[in-house]
Parts: sequence; C-alpha cells; structure tokens
Amino acid sequence: MRILAIETSCDETAVAVVECEGGLASPTFRVLSHELYSQASRHAEFGGVYPSLAKRLHNQNFTPLLIQALQKADLEREASTPLSEDQIGSVKAVLEREPELFKALTTYLAHTKKPDIDAIAVTKGPGLEPALWVGVNAARALALIWSIPLIPADHMKGHIFSVLSEKEESLTSHFQFPILSLLVSGGHTQLVLVKDWGTFEIVGETRDDAVGEAFDKVARLLDLPYPGGPHISRLAEEEREQNEVADIDLPRPMLNSDDLDFSYSGLKTAVLYKIKSEGSLNEDRKAAYARAFEDAAIEVLIKKTQRAIERYHPATLIIAGGVAANKYLRSQAEPLVTEHGIPLYIPDLTLTGDNAVMIATAAYIEFLTNEKSSFQNYDIRANSNLRVER
Ligand code: KG4
Ligand code: ZN
Repeated sequence: MRILAIETSCDETAVAVVECEGGLASPTFRVLSHELYSQASRHAEFGGVYPSLAKRLHNQNFTPLLIQALQKADLEREASTPLSEDQIGSVKAVLEREPELFKALTTYLAHTKKPDIDAIAVTKGPGLEPALWVGVNAARALALIWSIPLIPADHMKGHIFSVLSEKEESLTSHFQFPILSLLVSGGHTQLVLVKDWGTFEIVGETRDDAVGEAFDKVARLLDLPYPGGPHISRLAEEEREQNEVADIDLPRPMLNSDDLDFSYSGLKTAVLYKIKSEGSLNEDRKAAYARAFEDAAIEVLIKKTQRAIERYHPATLIIAGGVAANKYLRSQAEPLVTEHGIPLYIPDLTLTGDNAVMIATAAYIEFLTNEKSSFQNYDIRANSNLRVER
C-alpha cells in the first residue's frame, strides 16, 4: 500500500510517500519521495524551538511540501475537480484554527485529482502540542477529502522503525525480538525494549534534560549555533585527533546507579561553572570543552545501554533519533555489540533526524497490527505527552 506520511512534531515540516509491502514477517519499504523543510535556522535566535513560530511555519510550508512530495512520487494529476460545498465545509471545520493552511490546501485540492495513495499517516505525538496539531489537522482534512484510512503514528516508534526503510532486502530475517532501542534526540533519551511489533516497555529514561538538549545547551555556552549537536561533534572529533586524553574533567551523572536512567542537566551545569571559572575561551579551549562534554555524555549512553543488554538479553540493538547521527556514539557502540554478538541497526544519516519516512514506516506497522476499521476514525487528536508503552 502507498502511504502519504506527515510529520510536524517539532521544527521539521516533512511529507513523504512510501510504498509499503509485505506482512509482519517481512515488511518492506520503498521511498517514493521524502520532502523536508527544517525550521532550525528560524529558531536559532531563540536558542531552541519556539512553539508558536513552529506552528506558523508548519502552516506556511505544509502545502508546498505536499505538492513536492506528490510530484516527486509522480502522483500529481492535475484536473479541475471543484470541491463541493459539503467538502469545503468539513475541511473548514477541521482547519478552523489553521486558516492559512485551509486556503492553500483547498486551492490546491480544487486543481488535482485524488492521487493514487491508499492511506494518510501522521505523527500524533509526542512533541510540541501546537506544532503537532498542524500535521494532525492537515492529515484529517486530506483523509476526509480523499476518503482513505488515517493512521496516527507515534513519533518514537517512527525513530525505532526508521531503520527498516531503504534496505535492499527486508531486514526482518536478521531483525529479531526482543529489540533494545536507545532513542536519543532533542526531546528524548530512552531505552525502550520492543518485545514484539506492538509491545513496548520504557526500561530507562532521562530524569531531566534529553541528551540532544544537553548538546544544544552546551553548544550555546560555547557560542556555537543552534542546533549544536553537529558543531560539538565536529569540534570534539578534531580535538580527539590532536590530544589523546581530555584535560577537562566532567562528571558522568548516574553512570554507576543501578538503574537504566539518565540525567543530563547536571552535566550541562558542570560545564557552565567550569567555563565561568575560566573567563573567556579561545578556539582551542572551546574544542577541549566540546570533546570533554561529548566524552561524558556518550560514555553514560554506552554504559547504560550495556547494562540494559546484560539485563534484558536483546537479540537486536537499534540506536535512533537525532543524536544517532553522532559519529563518536556510533563508533563507541560498535565494540559493545561485537562483545555481545548482536546486530546493531542505526538509520541512514538522512533518517536520523525527524522526517516523514519514519512516520510512514511506523504507520504501516500500526496498520498491520491493528483492527483496520480503527483507521476510518478521522477524529484523532494530537497528544504531546504520548508514551510509547501506552
Ligand atoms: O530527532 P531530532 O531531529 O528531533 C527531536 O525529536 O528532538 O533530534 C534533534 C537533536 C538536536 O538536539 C541536535 O543537536 C541533535 O539531535 N543532533 C546531534 C547530532 N546531530 C543532531 N547531537 C550530537 N551529535 C550529532 N552529530
Ligand atoms: Zn524526533
């Protein structure tokens, strides 16, 4: 089946069309289009994502991205098919709080035939509430106009299952449960045990800041642009090439606690105090801080993942989410899986950050594991606090 997926949970507006085939024994995914607009530079001056700006930009950019996604998938069929009064009325009711989107979408829909799409998928949560609603309402409007199923998807399951797409062959033969997933992003730091396609348990998580958030906050302390993760990572790598050991000592919060939880706000504060005591930093010192921070942040991720492997004996390890782009994390995870003899899957770099392909993937798994009639319900709601274990 062909799924058109929408993601607007944070600061990326994304639309993708993915051809999904096969049952749970071997689902396969072929990406027909993968469109994305990152708002990051627009939020940079605020040092983080500003929810009402995110909502406004999702509203502006959704329709152009939808058009691009349909065109790239070669599914756009121009035709004059004026919407009936009834259709306009129901879309208007759905997009009551999105007047700009209503106008752009109805104008477009009046000039196109229903594309060859079998279902709409959308992120229902977790994420920023105002941002989520734009995608949810756009998805409701499209499902209504085209009379096709609407599949709400969990953003975190999207990160987990993002490793399944764009593979030459179905991964499933090597992809065995239970799966341990380390989910690392700007909003989350979780260890999730996936017992089967529909059963998830959060076995560890951050008690305060997410690891990506810590990268972004420390980057700010070092005068690096938002989002800071990639900048810290680049500086840290250069520093590691020059000096074998770090000369700044930072704490590893909760490294030796007997649970699988994390804490990143103390690490950020430790960096803040050390920087203050030094006064201004030259470029070399900035790099030394970036490296010391990355060493500490990643060491805790690896150690807790190791502990989770020893506790739950997973058959597969997945590392996903924006921070999974981090090279040092990737390199440190290799010996861990070698030691335990389990395969490691990390999404391609184009799919580590938020995107709509991963939402199509998660939606297809939902479609295969749930009652089909549930997807006729167009009255879905955004849930900013959605938890993967339900
Ligand atoms: O998954 P994502 O795109 O959005 C959320 O759902 O949060 O993750 C974004 C986060 C940001 O905090 C960003 O700084 C971080 O991922 N990030 C990185 C790297 N690339 C992105 N952190 C460390 N190293 C990287 N290379
Ligand atoms: Zn994410």
